[in-house]
Amino acid sequence: MIATEKGIMESMAILDDKTLDFLSSSETQTERLGVRLGELLQPMDIVCLSGELGAGKTVFARGMGRGWGAAPRVTSPTFTLVNEYPRLRDGLVLYHVDCYRLETTADAITVGLEDMLASRSVMMIEWPERIETMLPADRLLIALRHINETRRGIRMTAGGDRSLALLKSFRQSAFGV
Ligand SMILES: Nc1ncnc2c1ncn2[C@@H]1O[C@H](COP(=O)(O)OP(=O)(O)OP(=O)(O)O)[C@@H](O)[C@H]1O
Ligand SMILES: [Mg+2]
Repeated sequence: MIATEKGIMESMAILDDKTLDFLSSSETQTERLGVRLGELLQPMDIVCLSGELGAGKTVFARGMGRGWGAAPRVTSPTFTLVNEYPRLRDGLVLYHVDCYRLETTADAITVGLEDMLASRSVMMIEWPERIETMLPADRLLIALRHINETRRGIRMTAGGDRSLALLKSFRQSAFGV
């Protein structure tokens, strides 16, 4: 087993059985935590990343891409709304979607979100608030918030059985509990 993050354990709080809250003290730590989650992703998992500009959504997503086993680094889909990351091992695709520029649900359907959601693919969605009504309840919400220049608060909330299992596996992997 890989050691858990140094010092992070003290910042971890289980608010209720569906919610985990902790601090990241650097960009690299946020990315490493993303790797832990990415390693655990399975087909149909939906991970939503919320938080203001610069909160660290893309940093966390980049880590998830690495943990997933995506070939290229996952960077912010600033110009393309959807980036696809096929995994080397078995070709399964991880979608990274940035909904920041979506105005309506109709726009979301136009860019193929509905089909993606209906498929068995794994998805990471930045700015999920924009497409709230399209999303299934069973998703893992990761809300990032600024604490200061180098620290971020990260709160994970599971919306159903599968995301709860994912959250528990992540807790075990990252915190050893
Ligand atoms: N603990 C930390 N975790 C993550 N990022 C951090 C941390 N401390 C500082 N940073 C910095 O904050 C920025 C986070 O940028 P990122 O692109 O991930 O934000 P974002 O939430 O995706 O924003 P946007 O909504 O604009 O896409 C980076 O410049 C990173 O270096
Ligand atoms: Mg981003």
